[in-house]
Amino acid sequence: MRALDFGCGVGRLLIPLADRCEEVTGVDISPSMLAETRRNCDAAGARNVKLVRADDALSGVSGSFDFVHSYIVLQHIPVERGERFLAKLTSMLATGGVGIFQVTYESGLSSRSRILYWAKVNVPSANWLLNIARGRKPHAPLMQLNEYSVTRLLDILCKEGCREVYVRFSNHGGARGVLLFARRSDAPVFT
Ligand SMILES: C[S@@+](CC[C@H](N)C(=O)[O-])C[C@H]1O[C@@H](n2cnc3c(N)ncnc32)[C@H](O)[C@@H]1O
Repeated sequence: MRALDFGCGVGRLLIPLADRCEEVTGVDISPSMLAETRRNCDAAGARNVKLVRADDALSGVSGSFDFVHSYIVLQHIPVERGERFLAKLTSMLATGGVGIFQVTYESGLSSRSRILYWAKVNVPSANWLLNIARGRKPHAPLMQLNEYSVTRLLDILCKEGCREVYVRFSNHGGARGVLLFARRSDAPVFT
């Protein structure tokens, strides 16, 4: 009945969800994405869509959800912050509710690309210089591709009361990832 899409982008998955649910909430950090989503929802006649600008506490999101979803989002968020989002999103699931969370755990980068990526993240101006060297706009932002520990994610899901988790592997242009399907329960995880 109530679904949430975290990192909804322009509403690609939110609009089909709106077709199937009573009420859907799309959350994104980017105001321009949210504006585009609103236009796309209006064009699709999806009137049961609430849009919320994300902050780290997801303070604009209220109530519990039967379905929480996030696809191609957490991989772009630094791991510690992404883990906190996973815990928060899972805590918003109603009993019996299902979350589907996609993350990458292995970037698939060569040793050379790994060093360049590390420099772009950690060395001031490195992203700027490498953008110029590649003929891109100097201030083009770095698209992060973070590697999560699936074990830590399973532990978070466990602590948030998910007794069952199903794992499906996914491939993102060479980066290896997983889709974690988790169901929240009110029974103890360990019996
Ligand atoms: C690659 S797009 C994926 C969009 C959508 N999930 C899809 O599959 O079409 C990633 C989205 O995550 C959003 N995003 C990145 N960091 C975020 C954060 N901290 N909180 C919420 N959304 C975030 C971006 O603004 C962008 O719209």
